[in-house]
Amino acid sequence: MLYETSNMPLAVEMKMFRHFILILLLHVARLVYAQNDQSGFITIDCGIDKGADYTGSATGLNYVSDDGFIESGENYKVTLSTNGLASYQTTLRSFPENERNCYTLRPQQGKNNRYLMRARFLHGNYDSLGQNRQFDLYLGTDYWATINITDPWSEHTREIIHLTSSDDISVCLINTGHGNPFISGLELRLLDIDMYEGHSVSLFLVNRQYFGNKTVRYEDDMYDRIWYPLSMDTNYNTVINSDLVSAGQSDDEKVPLTVVSNAAIAISSTYNRVYKWSGDTADNLIIYIHIAEVEILKSNQTREFNIFLNGVYLFGPISPKTSLTTLTNKTPYTGSSSNRLQFNQTQNSNRPPIYNAIEIYTGKELLQNQTEETDAFAIRNTKSAYGLKRNWQGDPCFPQEFLWNGLNCSYRNPKAARIISLNLSSSGLSGEIVTALANLTMIESLDLSYNNLTGAVPQFLASLDNLKLLNLTGNNFARPLPAELLAKSKKGSLFLSIEVIGDQDKGYCLNGSCKNKKHTKVVIPVIVAIVVVFVLLIAFAIVWKYKWRKTKDLAIKDDVFKQRNQQYTYSEVQNITNNFTTVIGKGGFGTVFHGSIEGNQVAVKILSESSAQGYKEFQSEVKLLMDVRHKNITLLVGYCNDSNRKGIIYEYMANGNLGQHLFDGYSDILSWDRRLQIGCDAAEGLAYMHHGCRPPIVHRDVKSSNILLNEGFQAKLADFGLSRAFTAEDATHVSTIVAGTYGYIDPDSTNRLTVKSDVYSFGVVLLELITSRRAISKNINIIDWVKSTVAEGHVEHIIDPKLQGNFNRDTAWKLVELAIACVSYASIKRPTMNDVVLELKNCLQAEQTHHCIPDNESLPLNLESMSDPMPR
Ligand SMILES: *[C@@H]1O[C@H](CO)[C@@H](O)[C@H](O)[C@H]1NC(C)=O
Ligand SMILES: *[C@@H]1O[C@H](CO)[C@@H](O)[C@H](O)[C@H]1NC(C)=O
Ligand SMILES: *[C@@H]1O[C@H](CO)[C@@H](O)[C@H](O)[C@H]1NC(C)=O
Ligand SMILES: *[C@@H]1O[C@H](CO)[C@@H](O)[C@H](O)[C@H]1NC(C)=O
Ligand SMILES: *[C@@H]1O[C@H](CO)[C@@H](O)[C@H](O)[C@H]1NC(C)=O
Ligand SMILES: *[C@@H]1O[C@H](CO)[C@@H](O)[C@H](O)[C@H]1NC(C)=O
Ligand SMILES: *[C@@H]1O[C@H](CO)[C@@H](O)[C@H](O)[C@H]1NC(C)=O
Ligand SMILES: *[C@@H]1O[C@H](CO)[C@@H](O)[C@H](O)[C@H]1NC(C)=O
Ligand SMILES: *[C@@H]1O[C@H](CO)[C@@H](O)[C@H](O)[C@H]1NC(C)=O
Ligand SMILES: *[C@@H]1O[C@H](CO)[C@@H](O)[C@H](O)[C@H]1NC(C)=O
Repeated sequence: MLYETSNMPLAVEMKMFRHFILILLLHVARLVYAQNDQSGFITIDCGIDKGADYTGSATGLNYVSDDGFIESGENYKVTLSTNGLASYQTTLRSFPENERNCYTLRPQQGKNNRYLMRARFLHGNYDSLGQNRQFDLYLGTDYWATINITDPWSEHTREIIHLTSSDDISVCLINTGHGNPFISGLELRLLDIDMYEGHSVSLFLVNRQYFGNKTVRYEDDMYDRIWYPLSMDTNYNTVINSDLVSAGQSDDEKVPLTVVSNAAIAISSTYNRVYKWSGDTADNLIIYIHIAEVEILKSNQTREFNIFLNGVYLFGPISPKTSLTTLTNKTPYTGSSSNRLQFNQTQNSNRPPIYNAIEIYTGKELLQNQTEETDAFAIRNTKSAYGLKRNWQGDPCFPQEFLWNGLNCSYRNPKAARIISLNLSSSGLSGEIVTALANLTMIESLDLSYNNLTGAVPQFLASLDNLKLLNLTGNNFARPLPAELLAKSKKGSLFLSIEVIGDQDKGYCLNGSCKNKKHTKVVIPVIVAIVVVFVLLIAFAIVWKYKWRKTKDLAIKDDVFKQRNQQYTYSEVQNITNNFTTVIGKGGFGTVFHGSIEGNQVAVKILSESSAQGYKEFQSEVKLLMDVRHKNITLLVGYCNDSNRKGIIYEYMANGNLGQHLFDGYSDILSWDRRLQIGCDAAEGLAYMHHGCRPPIVHRDVKSSNILLNEGFQAKLADFGLSRAFTAEDATHVSTIVAGTYGYIDPDSTNRLTVKSDVYSFGVVLLELITSRRAISKNINIIDWVKSTVAEGHVEHIIDPKLQGNFNRDTAWKLVELAIACVSYASIKRPTMNDVVLELKNCLQAEQTHHCIPDNESLPLNLESMSDPMPR
């Protein structure tokens, strides 16, 4: 018994091509489907000149250059004699540079269509780097094949039939370290959606053959499948080319009649046929067998056979009709290293089995992990709009090891990964911010800093709900900035970075934000709070001891004081304070007087003339308050910078400072609600300084007496003399001398002060609010006292007895927990002020609705969080 054909290798030898070209040239195309419609085709001749295109002389296919489909690689010509080569085989694109290089095809018919994709590789000694090379081929993010080149004369072809799930189809070549990848041709063909359907897998072509003496493709096959001739031998009579055959009921695969009209009939009437090919035991085989009767059988003749694969029954008994029957398996068969398809005659049959054409595929599921389409489209558009020269190829987010540089993605849904950050800092961008970015709806961080961007900052940036960080520094954007953007920044939901220009940006603390870090889920023991009050300014009397001349120089040089309209002369200050009649406070640096400007009450702090230190503080406070505006930070009304008299004018805070209300035996007891509100106010002010300002500002002297209360008991932070603004790099590790007030100083800050030091101090203030005890009283630290009292189980005992039990237990516990978290010894364990604000607001809300938010973790009190390790 002889085997017909087999093992048609994918590497089609050159002689076959010469043959094929020759035949085609001689052949007058017989148009079964008289159509010359290439609208579903993309036919790329890799490596020809940019913009070139031509019609293949043998095929009539319209070839285009690969320019526009890929951005990397170099064009080469094969060094073989080009006789007998198809035109596309004479050029190629080689990729010496990147690890991954991708073609991106965007067929106009879009996704959810079935396409045939074909990639071709003919080495042709194009470079001197040796013909042996091996590289991987990917379809999108899925492995497709390994191309192993050992013979420059053999063309390697890979073909796949694939239902796409995105509009962009990328074909990527991966350098696996065995020589530069290259490619000669790339073909995409739109198939009808009902062709090759019913498989959950994609079909990788092994063989596609028929009985004929020439290769068939477009235009005989309007889908440009390539049908290679099956070789025959003496066991076969003739190939019968029959006019009998018609497209049958099962015409789903649209096999051209050119192909199925042919069948070879064995000479002997008893002959079992075998079709063999080699494969792998891991293969999942999908087989299409196309059968149609080509003989007119006599009444006493019967053709009937069964079909077996590797000895296992597949189909039958089959008695072919003149209309086409296609046999196929929807569930893949397990392959073997050498596969045998047997056509065995049944006992009834007196004619040998026939078949007309055969297609063998292996099926494999492509996961098609990909970036969500709108995101991918947006980022590609952004790339092309700015003419970015980055190696951004293939899918933006997949595979993860090839994530586009500057991007980060959320992979929660691998079928639609989302872009969550984009960093185009210093990328030479110019022009306006492109609208494509509006489609990156999940983006959290966008860094466009240090480019040459101009025009208006677009409104849509404010509509990106997830955007938490926006860096626009170092560009030339027009003003004003969109109000919504500023509002978000002010509210704290966006961290906006841009240089402050002119008055219109003022009051928004642009270089930062008071973001609500809901996304960072720092687990804080819950709580509630309150806080504080405050007082007036501290003060001082004045007089600057330095020589007049020297002070004057200082004043002139200092750019802090350029804002003339807030500056007052000493005699104006005298006037405002009615010649310093009413003292409302006194402190280490000076005295605070009551005053009035146009009927509005103010507080005027006059620096004592005693120290240079005082002048420094004066400068830093004025500078800072001029830039910072927040409802919970005392408003700077003006200042006086006369040669030797310095003063600062603030809004008047009628109810003094929080310390006075807590400790000084005021008869008006601050209610629990009011304490919560005060705590919340003060926390918001601090959160704004920490997270809303760029660089962040560390107050460095948070304490009850620096929290002032206005006539409505709204709390505002005051006394910024020690405050420092730190550059971004310094924000977490600030080397500066520890300042502050005993009892409130961060123990974990050996001569470093950070925003977390303020959190610590604020925790102490919270404890004071809860207990009405001073930070240090009778030499006992309030933290130790609270912890030991709670540890003994007397939680109620720590609450200010003056409240006489008029407090909400739930919010009280939460407040205690929050305070304890704030005074964690390790600064890393402390919440941020944004977290604190969030907790306090929750508590406040719970308090106001007389209904505490259930929180199982907070009751009973979490003692673990209270036994913070002591200093090592
Ligand atoms: C590549 O092909 C050559 C020749 O067929 C073979 O010897 C070699 O093992 C192949 N390489 C790989 C990695 O399969
Ligand atoms: C190919 O087959 C056709 C009939 O199918 C025949 O007419 C033609 O002569 C054959 N050509 C060659 C080169 O064998
Ligand atoms: C079938 O019938 C034909 C005449 O129609 C005859 O020549 C032939 O021998 C018969 N063959 C068989 C197998 O009976
Ligand atoms: C098919 O026929 C061949 C040869 O005629 C035989 O060896 C084989 O066992 C048959 N297969 C089956 C499954 O009957
Ligand atoms: C695709 O996603 C699946 C999970 O759905 C994951 O297991 C696989 O590793 C991903 N593949 C790639 C190439 O990222
Ligand atoms: C991307 O984001 C994840 C999660 O936010 C983070 O762990 C990872 O480091 C980021 N990768 C890059 C390259 O920024
Ligand atoms: C963006 O990249 C630059 C340098 O490449 C880096 O300095 C900057 O921190 C990055 N931006 C963000 C938001 O991570
Ligand atoms: C945003 O995405 C939609 C839907 O994919 C698309 O129609 C639109 O053109 C995109 N907008 C921009 C500016 O790219
Ligand atoms: C920035 O853009 C302006 C206006 O388009 C142009 O004149 C200038 O040369 C650009 N600067 C750089 C560094 O590209
Ligand atoms: C832009 O600002 C953000 C937030 O301040 C920062 O993380 C990032 O590093 C900045 N980018 C550059 C290039 O400095």
